[in-house]
Amino acid sequence: MPKNTSVEILGLHLSPRKKGSSRLLLDKFKEGAESKGARFEILSVSDLRIKGCVGCFSCTKDGKCVIKDDDMRVLYEAWEKAERVVVSTSIYFYDMPSQGKAVLDRSQAFWARRYELHQNKEDKPGGRGFLLAVGATKGKELFTPVTLVVKYLFDSLSISKKFPVLAFRGVEGPDKFTSEQLEEVVKAGEEFAG
Ligand SMILES: Cc1cc2nc3c(=O)[nH]c(=O)nc-3n(C[C@H](O)[C@H](O)[C@H](O)COP(=O)(O)O)c2cc1C
Repeated sequence: MPKNTSVEILGLHLSPRKKGSSRLLLDKFKEGAESKGARFEILSVSDLRIKGCVGCFSCTKDGKCVIKDDDMRVLYEAWEKAERVVVSTSIYFYDMPSQGKAVLDRSQAFWARRYELHQNKEDKPGGRGFLLAVGATKGKELFTPVTLVVKYLFDSLSISKKFPVLAFRGVEGPDKFTSEQLEEVVKAGEEFAG
C-alpha cells in the first residue's frame, strides 16, 4: 500500500507520568500512524513546564497569553499548524491530570481568537481529532469529563468537535493492557493516518 507522506499528526500527552499507561497508548497509536507514513510529533506535559491560566482575560484582546516564561509557546506554535490532533490522557479524580488541565485552560487564548476576535471561524478542512483515555476503575461516566473538555479544546483549535474516543477502564498501569487492547490502538493509529 502506498504510504501517505503528507499527513502530520500532533500527539498531546497529558499525564505527568513519562512511562505510564496513557503514554503507552499514544506510543502505540503513533506506531500505527507511522506505519502508514504519517509524521508524528508527541508533546508531553511530562517534558514541559506549563503554568496555570491566571484568568486575566488579556487574551480576549489579542489572542495571546500574557504568561511568557513557560513552555506553553511550544504548544501554541504546534497548535497553529496542527490539523490532526490526538490527545492521550489518564484519569485523575474523574478528569485529566492537573498538568493536562493547565494546558486546556491555556487554550483559552485560541478560544478567544475564535470567539472573541472572530479568527479561524471555520473548522480546518483537514482537521480531525482523536481521544485516547485510560483509568483504573470501571465507572460508567469515567470518561465523560475528559471527553467534554477535549471537545472544547478541539473546538478552540478549529478542529471538529466530533471525534472518536478509544478509552480503557480498569487499567492500573501500562503493564495491565492486554495485547488485544494495544493492537486495537495500533489499528486506530493506522486509520487516523489514512
Ligand atoms: C491522583 C490520581 C487520581 C486517580 N484518579 C482516578 C480516578 O478517578 N478514576 C480512575 O479510574 N483512575 C484513577 N487513577 C488511576 C489512573 O487513571 C491509572 O493508574 C492510569 O493507568 C494512570 O495512567 P498514567 O500512567 O498515564 O497517568 C488515579 C491515579 C492518580 C495518581
